[in-house]
Amino acid sequence: MPFFLGITGASGSVIGARLAEELAKRDKVFLCLTKCARFIAQREGVKVPGAENITLLDEEDFSSPVASGSFRLKACIIAPCSMGTLARIANGISSNLIERAADIALKEGWPLVIVPRETPLNAVHLENMLKLASSGARIVPPVLTFYHNPKTIDDLVNFVVGRILDIIGVEHKLYRRWGHEA
Ligand SMILES: Cc1cc2nc3c(=O)[nH]c(=O)nc-3n(C[C@H](O)[C@H](O)[C@H](O)COP(=O)(O)O)c2cc1C
Repeated sequence: MPFFLGITGASGSVIGARLAEELAKRDKVFLCLTKCARFIAQREGVKVPGAENITLLDEEDFSSPVASGSFRLKACIIAPCSMGTLARIANGISSNLIERAADIALKEGWPLVIVPRETPLNAVHLENMLKLASSGARIVPPVLTFYHNPKTIDDLVNFVVGRILDIIGVEHKLYRRWGHEA
């Protein structure tokens, strides 16, 4: 079954790009970027991922199969997720294809993983995250982690991407697990 990946206008486009590559090694990926995501990716020197398994969708294309619950998806992931997109999903406002895909995942009970990127977080952000977590979404902030002894930015990114893959049940070797030697 295919994956849906939305990349929105928050810092950390590299997380979305890395995740797209990993997912595309395993199955078809429907990838959608918002206008702000494209701008930020360019600023952060990240290329929009392209691979045979990746289908790029327009954020305004509501005629796409992923805009319907009758089209099955293995998981819907939004990484990174801006506070704007987070707020709209938490409040059922499907103003673009990413928000619509997330809304469908919630109504159908499919895995929905949100990777919110902002700091510090205000009460509105936290309330929106709580709303989504209560509705079944998994909230996976891209936090810094050091127990796996990262040496490079890639190591840090791979840890976050690996945790996302863990949640959607995709096997990987992107980071060394606690209790497992290299
Ligand atoms: C360089 C840059 C970095 C940004 N980083 C963030 C961020 O980390 N988190 C966030 O919530 N918004 C961030 N923003 C603001 C969002 O891009 C803005 O709220 C936008 O409306 C989000 O649109 P989207 O959710 O449709 O992608 C950033 C904007 C710019 C220009």
